[in-house]
Amino acid sequence: SAAAVVVVRHRMRNSGKWTKALDILKEFDDKCQTPISKLRQVADAMTVEMHAGLASDGGSKLKMLISYVDNLPTGDETGIFYALDLGGTNFRVLRVKLGGVENVKKEFQEVSIPPNLMIGNCEDLFDFIAGELAKFVATEGEDMQIPAGTQRELGFTFSFPVKQSSIAGGTLVRWTKGFNIEDAVGQDVVEELTKAMERVGLDMRVSALVNDTVGTLAGGRYSDPDVIAAVILGTGTNAAYVERANAIPKWQGLLPKSGEMVINMEWGNFRSSHLPLTEYDESLDNDSLNPGEQIYEKMISGMYLGEIVRRVLLKMAVEAEFFGDTVPSKLEKPFILRTPDMSAMHHDSTPDLKVVATKLKDILEISNTSLKMRKVIVELCEIVATRGARLSAAGILGILKKTGRDTIKEGEENQKSVIAMDGGLFEHYTKFRNSMQNTMDELLGEEASKNVIIKLSNDGSGLGAALLAASHSQYREYIES
Ligand code: GLC
Repeated sequence: SAAAVVVVRHRMRNSGKWTKALDILKEFDDKCQTPISKLRQVADAMTVEMHAGLASDGGSKLKMLISYVDNLPTGDETGIFYALDLGGTNFRVLRVKLGGVENVKKEFQEVSIPPNLMIGNCEDLFDFIAGELAKFVATEGEDMQIPAGTQRELGFTFSFPVKQSSIAGGTLVRWTKGFNIEDAVGQDVVEELTKAMERVGLDMRVSALVNDTVGTLAGGRYSDPDVIAAVILGTGTNAAYVERANAIPKWQGLLPKSGEMVINMEWGNFRSSHLPLTEYDESLDNDSLNPGEQIYEKMISGMYLGEIVRRVLLKMAVEAEFFGDTVPSKLEKPFILRTPDMSAMHHDSTPDLKVVATKLKDILEISNTSLKMRKVIVELCEIVATRGARLSAAGILGILKKTGRDTIKEGEENQKSVIAMDGGLFEHYTKFRNSMQNTMDELLGEEASKNVIIKLSNDGSGLGAALLAASHSQYREYIES
């Protein structure tokens, strides 16, 4: 009958669209593949760029910034110090009483940064920070009091590329992640913070300015002498590691006594023809606050993974009517799908994918999805997360290669290499973390992987900044005597 013909036509049309949607997914999946051979090429390219960045300023996309940290914490640091952590969606203020590794007392407060301040002007941002810091200082209890007549000291974790001029000073090279405050670029961020503290009447000295990777490395080393590098997988991604000072041709200063120097790689800006870039990555980059920059970061970190998923879904909606004959308008909104929501969908273990259904409804106002469709969405999350996790493992292999720690050496004592990890993506996105760890093992092989340990160092960066403030305290000689 005519009605039956209509039904059949309808089914054929729908199955055509379904096929088209799966084609889009399949093509994306193909482009995202990261076989071990490719990851090795990425790791090798990373090593090459590390050499180039250490050789000269501007020698590579990898800035390989000198941190001026040539001594890592020993465990003997004492005193009460403040730390301030700026660089993600939240910023933290911290008060730490140091009295040996087993005797650390921490108090902290987390404040979210009003989004308008992230793209406003320099003075407003620093006034806000100084104001929050002053409020926190006012809560100092009896047992956390600084001795009368001494000035409070602060370790400032500033998680953006900074060209340091000393341990406690440096200029902002450029913003990354969601920040874009033009008049701050090229400014000394310690000076800006100090001026803001004066404006709010807070008497405090910045004793150390560190990147979050450097803070995490210091914090990790405090309780584990085998820590040789730190990686952040959070809103952004980056790594720092301990380099031999005489392997840094661009270093003009005296060789430090320790013979070592911590390098902030700014690996988020890594780029290589071996990276599996797709059209979605390209359009994400074009539409971003910093086009052409932070390409590796845009494939890996928490700020972007959900956004990549959204872009693929949008294409499926437009070209294959994946969500019906109209494109859900919410799906057109950049950054509406956040990585924590993507993670929740990816980890949905209910048989009918209830979590996926709820997220689609709450965030994108999409209802009436079939189980088949929801499975496609989980698959999409898997593709995006796996690519990011595997690429970050390749980056770590790059560091291990550069430092000669990627293989077992016959007849030698094989030292452990501990990588201190921090960041919400690593901490909370279990499938991402597991995929990264498995890839690491696969890349290193059974023997070598026994000596490489990836360790969560939760808020190591705040503690690390406080420790570095302690070891660079103006009262150090007095404390030590
Ligand atoms: C971005 C910043 C970098 C920071 C990283 C993780 O890549 O440029 O300095 O370490 O995010 O927060």
